[in-house]
Amino acid sequence: MDIKPFEHFAIETAKSAGEVLMSYFGKLTHVDNKSTDIDLVTHADIDSERLIIQAIQNEFPHHNIIAEESDFDNIDSDYCWVIDPLDGTTNFVHTLPIFAVSIGLRYKKKTLLGVVYNPVYDQCFHATLNGGAFLNNSLINKSSTNTLSESLLVTGFPYIHDDRWQASFKLFEDFYSRNQGMRRLGAAALDFCFVAMGRFDGFYEFNLQPWDVCAGDLILREAGGQTSDWDGITQMPFSGNRILGSNGYLQAQMSEVLMQKKYVDVFFRLK
Ligand code: IPD
Ligand code: CA
Ligand code: CA
Repeated sequence: MDIKPFEHFAIETAKSAGEVLMSYFGKLTHVDNKSTDIDLVTHADIDSERLIIQAIQNEFPHHNIIAEESDFDNIDSDYCWVIDPLDGTTNFVHTLPIFAVSIGLRYKKKTLLGVVYNPVYDQCFHATLNGGAFLNNSLINKSSTNTLSESLLVTGFPYIHDDRWQASFKLFEDFYSRNQGMRRLGAAALDFCFVAMGRFDGFYEFNLQPWDVCAGDLILREAGGQTSDWDGITQMPFSGNRILGSNGYLQAQMSEVLMQKKYVDVFFRLK
């Protein structure tokens, strides 16, 4: 299969969606809530998603779409586009320039292509399956840190404040006592890319969604990193339920922390 036309289309579409986001950045007059008071959605999310969906429906009308802000019926296609029109909405609302458009393409449930674009810095990360990972067309590579004690890690916390949310702060502290630092940037798609380019050595989170993880997962793997469930072995769930990504050297060491019984009891319980 020739992936090039898809690659070109996804990069150009992410950049156009980025222009939409920039037209609202710092100028929002209204913010709405979704599942909770702190789960935000803006006209920027909606208009960016509209542009991406229209582009896909014009170009590939017979492909499936999974998008954060819209529901689509499943059509009989092996292709599926997975879209987060604005990853990092809370940052965006507060004019913190850490947010991105994320577009993934899957074929028969395997991710073929991922694009993550931050329009503020005009930084476009992308990867194709077996084709390597790039930032603005320059190859990127994971870090070489091979001990947890020398690592800088990133994580995130969901909008729902349940017992897993409480436990995640214990986990944060647990990692922080073992490494050089922990960060919480607020845009999961970029967290993956920052591991992919070696800024961070690892990333874990729970309760993410397919659109948060689809593109970033491929970009990290194509940069030589590894992704999995928290057990360090099972393939990273497309659902985003529990994700672990690293430069590869830290996958087992991070998994060892995550798989302590006190966390497994909370995070692996059926919900
Ligand atoms: C959020 C960000 C954040 C993560 C949240 C996500 P959104 O996405 O990726 O880093 O911690 O769980 O929901 O809502 O800004 O698209
Ligand atoms: Ca998101
Ligand atoms: Ca979003």
